[in-house]
Amino acid sequence: MIGALGLAPDQVEAVLRSASLAPSVHNTQPWRFRVLPDRIELHADLDRRLPATDPEDRELRLSCGAALFNLRVALQGFGVRPLVTILPGQEAPGALATVRRGGGLKPDDEMLALLKAVPTRRTNRRPFFESGVDARHRHALVRAAELERSWLHIVGTREEVATMKGLVRRAHQIQQENDGVQAELEAFTGHRPGATDGVPRASAGVRPEAQDEWAFRDFHPGQQHQRLSGKDYESNPLVAVVCSHYDGPLGELQAGQAMQRVLLTATTLGLSASFMSQPVEVWAVREELRRALGGMLLPQTVLRVGFSTPVPATPRRPVAELLLEPTTSTN
Ligand SMILES: Cc1cc2nc3c(=O)[nH]c(=O)nc-3n(C[C@H](O)[C@H](O)[C@H](O)COP(=O)(O)O)c2cc1C
Repeated sequence: MIGALGLAPDQVEAVLRSASLAPSVHNTQPWRFRVLPDRIELHADLDRRLPATDPEDRELRLSCGAALFNLRVALQGFGVRPLVTILPGQEAPGALATVRRGGGLKPDDEMLALLKAVPTRRTNRRPFFESGVDARHRHALVRAAELERSWLHIVGTREEVATMKGLVRRAHQIQQENDGVQAELEAFTGHRPGATDGVPRASAGVRPEAQDEWAFRDFHPGQQHQRLSGKDYESNPLVAVVCSHYDGPLGELQAGQAMQRVLLTATTLGLSASFMSQPVEVWAVREELRRALGGMLLPQTVLRVGFSTPVPATPRRPVAELLLEPTTSTN
């Protein structure tokens, strides 16, 4: 590891470690970093694509956007103001983003709280408590998305909740019948001793049942245990859709950063969150969701937010495996 942006090698390593703690679809960790003295480049790791679940790499870029947000927060923790260029083109071929030093800065209290939340944030698939998420918390989550040039749509009315449940269920059903999607889920879940990626059983939550109110992804392929069902889940979770204003990679990278800012903000408020991505992964259902949201915003990911008990951390690949050689091109 070399030093970069005025930071010592071990500080750069700590920054990349923070970036790698971001959430990613099936914990694929589809990111790589090139460290140069004057910039850190973020690249997609195209060997970690999920072609059946995420054929357009949209969730791959959301995940990379989340890693970019963590990287920005970690740099601020070391007193560096990150100067980010999204999709830099010629200056860093193939990169999703470059981050340079834009001078020094003293992180404010909000940034310090987000920094503290980076290692403690987790996807929590357990049942949440019945106590609701109050208006102050909702406002903080909406603001977090807005600060990242995106939008958080809170699924509010009874009709909206019913529509959303229907869309989640329908998309879930379509994915259940898609062998490619199921094979990718299986490849990244279950018993994988020593794995540094994927979703370990301890993080899988309870096994979903057909009668559940919300259709959660089944992270227990081939397993028959833990007979909890929808009635054990909270009756009225806060469901929120992270939306972008733009279609394509720019909007996805913005939404990925927004998603992570929302998740870290939730963590600072003592809230837990999990994902219900099925309706944004099935193209036709995503279109329906887009229309249900008024047609202007692009739904990128669906979150369930509430209060719960703590869950263990998922594994991460060592930083050394995430590095691109300074001379290697990813094109
Ligand atoms: C774009 C995206 C989509 C995801 N979709 C789902 C999902 O539908 N269901 C789910 O249980 N987890 C989902 N996850 C959560 C990942 O599985 C989780 O981030 C990963 O296993 C790492 O665990 P951690 O978030 O606890 O660090 C998603 C994450 C991302 C970034």
